[in-house]
This record gives sequence, structure tokens and C-alpha cells, in this order.
Amino acid sequence: MKWQADDLAVVTGGSGGLGRALVRDLASAGLRVLAVGRRAEALAETAAPNTDRIQTVAADIGDPEGRARVVAAVRGARVRTVIHNAGVLEPVRPLRDVDVASWRYAMAVNLEAPVFLTQGLLPLMDQASRVLHISSGAAHRPSQGWGAYCASKSALYMVYQVYREELRQDGVLVGSVRPGVVDTPMQAHIRQQTPDHFPAVERFVKLKENGQLYAPEDAADFILWVLFKTGDKQFTEQEWNIGDSEHYQRWRETRRS
Ligand SMILES: NC(=O)c1ccc[n+]([C@@H]2O[C@H](COP(=O)([O-])OP(=O)(O)OC[C@H]3O[C@@H](n4cnc5c(N)ncnc54)[C@H](OP(=O)(O)O)[C@@H]3O)[C@@H](O)[C@H]2O)c1
Repeated sequence: MKWQADDLAVVTGGSGGLGRALVRDLASAGLRVLAVGRRAEALAETAAPNTDRIQTVAADIGDPEGRARVVAAVRGARVRTVIHNAGVLEPVRPLRDVDVASWRYAMAVNLEAPVFLTQGLLPLMDQASRVLHISSGAAHRPSQGWGAYCASKSALYMVYQVYREELRQDGVLVGSVRPGVVDTPMQAHIRQQTPDHFPAVERFVKLKENGQLYAPEDAADFILWVLFKTGDKQFTEQEWNIGDSEHYQRWRETRRS
């Protein structure tokens, strides 16, 4: 991906976790970045090391009005990339106990927001723009207690594929990436679950105890490698996965060279 001075990267969920590392890395790479999240103070903390390049907008992207504020904040810029990173894990409990409001909120943030933010930002993108979805292993396999999360990420995987086909003619490339298990507040939240809500909780406790989580900075490095270093066809044709040994090797080798 090539960019010019003043090109903008939009990153949702830039107020913490993986998104914070992505925002800071993009700014260090020379792009202007718009970081989006609900918490203004946490966004300011993300921006603090590079306020020249990092702008913020506090908005709930699960809400059409919040998404409209994001689009309004971008007006006039050329959007080189959008990273749909914001995500919510809740409601964590068996599907039989999930209430409709929390189900809808998960769908609004994890699925509806990427669909409609891409739609809203498209007029500001051009031939060289790249849209990137942050996916998950949960998009591809069921996990008891994560019904809303799995369903929303699985549907997001299909949205990636449909948008990829539909936007090809405009030259806008759409990709998807799985960042692995990353040491973020979402993982801390996972480890706090009870087995009756999330039977696999112990596996995640062990991963943390054994130091097997990716640092957000490393996962962000992989994601930005996918964004910047892959050719057009490579970027879109498959979902990138840090847990895939071939993808992992290609990233590490390029990094060394
Ligand atoms: N961590 C992992 O192991 C892992 C594994 C696979 C995939 N992922 C995916 O990676 C992405 C980032 O995850 P993470 O671990 O960094 O999660 P996290 O630590 O919980 O951070 C989530 C981010 O999303 C933002 N967000 C949540 N709801 C929002 C809303 N309604 N409007 C705007 N922003 C919102 C949060 O900011 P505010 O609270 O300020 O709104 C926060 O910045 C997610 O899509 C997640 O599904 C994570």
C-alpha cells in the first residue's frame, strides 16, 4: 500500500488494546490517523505520543449517529485505509440465556459498524485504499458461551468476502486478518468469566500463565505487515492468520530482511 502525506487511516477501537498499538504504529509509519472509541480520555492517551498525527473522535460506532460523527470527522481527507478493529465479546453466556438487547449491541458493534462505516467512508476512498477487518478464530469455529461473538465474527467474515467482490471494480481492496490471542483488556475480561458462562475459560487462563499471548505491539506489527507489504491480490484473496505457520513465516522473514 502506498500513501502520500496527509492520507488518513481510520482505526476503530483505537482507545485501547490492539487498536491503540495499531494507531501508534500507523502514526509512526507516517500516516495521519483518526482513532475512534467511546472513551475520550483513553483516546487522548492513545494520541499522547504523537498528537501531530493522531486525531480522535469519541463515538459509539454501534449507533448510526456515532458512525455519522466518524464520517463527519473525516470529511475532506483522503482515506487510505480503514481498520475495523473495535469489537465486543459480551454477552458471554449460553445462547439460551442471552437477552435481545445485548445480542443486538454485539451485532451493532461487530457487524453493522464495519458494514456501514465502510459505506459511509467509501466516497473518501480511491483506487489505492484498503479496508481491513479484524477477524477471529471465533468466526470459523463454535465456542460455547460466545454465541453472539462467534455469530457476529462469522457474519463479518462473509461481509469481507462480499465487499471484496463488490468493491473490486472501484479498486478498493478489502482484507481480513486474525491477530491470534492478544494480551489486551478483552483477554483479561475472558479470564474473569465463570465456567458456567464460558466453559473454556481455563484454557485462556493457562495461555496467559504460560506467556503464550501476543503482545498488542507484535499483533499490530503483523496486521500492518498484511496492510503494507502484501500485493493487491494477496491482500484480498484469503484471510490472513498469524496462527497459520506459512503466514507467520512470511511475516517474520520479511521483517528480518
Ligand atoms: N484480544 C484477542 O485475543 C483477540 C483475538 C482475536 C480477535 N480479536 C479482535 O481484535 C479486535 C480488538 O480486540 P482487543 O482485544 O483489542 O479488544 P479490547 O481490548 O476489548 O478493545 C476493544 C476496543 O474496541 C472499542 N469499542 C468497543 N465497543 C465500541 C463501540 N461501541 N464504539 C466504538 N469503539 C468501541 C473499545 O473502546 P471504548 O471502550 O473506548 O469504546 C476498545 O478500544 C476486536 O475486533 C476483537 O474481536 C481480539
